[in-house]
Amino acid sequence: MAKKIRNKTYRHTYHLMPECGWMNDPNGFSLFNGEYHLFYQHYPYDSIWGPMHWGHAVSTDLIKWTHKPIALKPDEDYDRNGVFSGSGLQVENEHWLYYTGHIDSYLDTVYDENFKKKSQADSQGDTSPYIRQVQCLAKSKDGTTYHKYEHNPIIGSEQIPPGIRIEDFRDPKVWQNNGTYYMVVGAKSIDHIGHVLFYTSQDGIAWEYLNDLTLGKEYGTVWECPDIFELDGKHVLLFSPQEKPRVGHNFENIHSTMALVGQFEYETGTFAVEFEQELDQGFDFYAPQSLLTAEGKRVMIGWMNMWDMKYPLHELRHDWNGSMSLPRELSLKNGKLIQKPYHTIESYQKNEVQLRDLRIDGEYNNSSLSGKSQHLNIAFDMTESNIFKIECLKGDCESISMTFYKNRNEMVLDRRASNYPIENLRICNDYNRSQHINLTNKVKLDIFLDVSSIEIFVNDGEYVFTSLFFSKELGDNVALTSDGVTYIEKLVKSEIC
Ligand code: FRU
Repeated sequence: MAKKIRNKTYRHTYHLMPECGWMNDPNGFSLFNGEYHLFYQHYPYDSIWGPMHWGHAVSTDLIKWTHKPIALKPDEDYDRNGVFSGSGLQVENEHWLYYTGHIDSYLDTVYDENFKKKSQADSQGDTSPYIRQVQCLAKSKDGTTYHKYEHNPIIGSEQIPPGIRIEDFRDPKVWQNNGTYYMVVGAKSIDHIGHVLFYTSQDGIAWEYLNDLTLGKEYGTVWECPDIFELDGKHVLLFSPQEKPRVGHNFENIHSTMALVGQFEYETGTFAVEFEQELDQGFDFYAPQSLLTAEGKRVMIGWMNMWDMKYPLHELRHDWNGSMSLPRELSLKNGKLIQKPYHTIESYQKNEVQLRDLRIDGEYNNSSLSGKSQHLNIAFDMTESNIFKIECLKGDCESISMTFYKNRNEMVLDRRASNYPIENLRICNDYNRSQHINLTNKVKLDIFLDVSSIEIFVNDGEYVFTSLFFSKELGDNVALTSDGVTYIEKLVKSEIC
């Protein structure tokens, strides 16, 4: 009964969503027996966050997903208040899932004196004596039914180094290197600084603490959902720092997602950082995970949403909330992490419309560009203009817009013009995001619209802006406006289904 969606108005066409209920982080993103598996944080009974389950979907191309039965439920003592985020990998013929068991004994009034003592000793009083997070394992032979390991948890509170809060120890990512297993776990110290912890294991079951990494209080309070991998001769550590302070046009969301790029030393568990980068310049991208595809590409998917924002879907009683971003292929180029839409989306694109040599001066509308689920590829030149604006999902009063200001070399994404504005629960009037982009050169955009979402890849993946947008009018027009002549060498639109 719960699978009934009462209102499908804002459902996407080509992004993964829950069949009903709530979705947050991608989990266990992995290749098992030739098929891609994507699990996710899921509360099936309502369109708000609740005791976490792992929803499950499979795909052969990372675009078209088939839903499977819920893989994990909060039904054991050690995960009774939530099966939190984690990762997956193939171990011989089995699919292993590592996740965090979330225990909040305040909720079920089960009270453990030993646990309380350890908690209070660690925290010097400044922590919850009720919450505890432990790392757990579940296995499957068929990729459908998952059995929790009988000796869970595999890493308990006693293996947390001193100074780290036992209630903020979550989201294990496990990988193998030269026959040894490694795990990176997100954490927070008792002085409210984000960390990751590294563990090693010979069999993937018995773990030893190796080292930790932190960059101090300018890097947020908890480092959630870490992921680590090799890319173009370097190591990349992705994580989502909560409450990372803003730096110029970067880290403008309350919670952010970033990459550290450098070298990870397996012997000592140390990470030498060479550069850092925020992953997305929009409003709605968090907790990404990656995998290596069958063809050897590193592909990342994130939760297309954000904490501490008020989305209208729950109040409107649409029975669902949450979706995943498009898969993005990662690479390193000239000291930057580049993100491109994974190529498999191309086979869903059809009915191409090509416009060439447009000289936009004033407002330009063309009904052949309209659409709710589509890709727009635009290359423009502002030599003879100062301000150029692109509006999408446009009705009479609503639209989401990108404006380019040549004198400031700045792009501004603005989603204020909506009858269902997405409120930031901590900051008022937080409706635009900007980025410095060189507008003296030609600019290339790949814009993916999907009913209530937009993903904009700027200059072949140098920047990405991901945002949700809920319009009441459900407009589908595209309008281009320029204050001088903006020259569009080429504009290609294709529908995506
Ligand atoms: C990140 C996160 C994780 C946690 C999960 C709970 O979005 O807070 O740290 O495991 O969500 O749903």
